Amino acid sequence: MVKHFLDIADLSAADLRGILDDAHARKAARKGWPKGRVDADAPARDRVLAMIFEKNSTRTRFSFDAAIRQLGGDAIISTATDMQLGRGETIEDTAKVLSRMVDAIMIRANRHDDVLRLARTATIPIINGLTDKSHPCQILADLQTIEEHRGNIKGKTLAWVGDGNNVCASFIHAAARFDFTLNIACPAGYKPSNADMFFASENRARVTVTQDPEAAVRGADVVMADTWVSMGDLDHDERLEAFEPYQVNEALMALAKPDALFLHCLPAHRGEEVTDGVIDGPQSVVWDEAENRIHAQKAVINWCFS
Ligand code: CP
Ligand code: NVA
Repeated sequence: MVKHFLDIADLSAADLRGILDDAHARKAARKGWPKGRVDADAPARDRVLAMIFEKNSTRTRFSFDAAIRQLGGDAIISTATDMQLGRGETIEDTAKVLSRMVDAIMIRANRHDDVLRLARTATIPIINGLTDKSHPCQILADLQTIEEHRGNIKGKTLAWVGDGNNVCASFIHAAARFDFTLNIACPAGYKPSNADMFFASENRARVTVTQDPEAAVRGADVVMADTWVSMGDLDHDERLEAFEPYQVNEALMALAKPDALFLHCLPAHRGEEVTDGVIDGPQSVVWDEAENRIHAQKAVINWCFS
């Protein structure tokens, strides 16, 4: 059976715990190594990962490339506009062709449905590198970061301040699978989808949604922000106005636990969703978080190939 990594919600708690443990172990094993050195077991030796981008990326692009190399494999990267996909070749035909040429595909897509179509036809693993609906790889890196600073994620309280869209959705899925509490604060028009909230209640996840950022952050172990204007959002000015009360600044951080961590998937829009004082301050772990994209994704790739 082909193992795709499309959403955290698709995997069991045991599989996800195994992935996170592998990420921790691989990071620890290569402490101090040059970034291009291959892990001792080279589990992806002779494997090629294709990466397709329909949207911009810095972290996802470089971390997946570094990840597959550290696992002993290789990568081929393309933007969708450079491919015949950009001229109307179907997702299904693309899936059939690439399945003959590479061993796995990571795709960053405008539409989540297109990733599902790719996975339905491909005979190799498909990995979701962000869609309009979710960003599962990001959340594994985030959980790895929290665990390395504060221990097991189980039972912790995480506060999400901002848009209830893709990154938040993957946190909702993770709250169910990793058993932590997630307090979401967002403006009325930017709440998580009904489908994600239904998933949370079906899986008895401790997820709350409020319009009050102070209520969400009070006593939290971790405070998280994301851009107010995601890639593809056209209503820039309207969003800036709606999200203005949702800035993570020093005053808001002061309501969380005194040793609370600050996370942001990046890129950050300083002065909008977060102040310089918070993102550059002592509670911020955003650079560890960015690095952990490599380690977490190595574990995801391993899981897909295992
Ligand atoms: N966090 C994240 O996915 O960053 P990029 O958009 O740079 O890949
Ligand atoms: N929510 C953001 C995340 C970027 C990594 C976006 O979709 O643009």
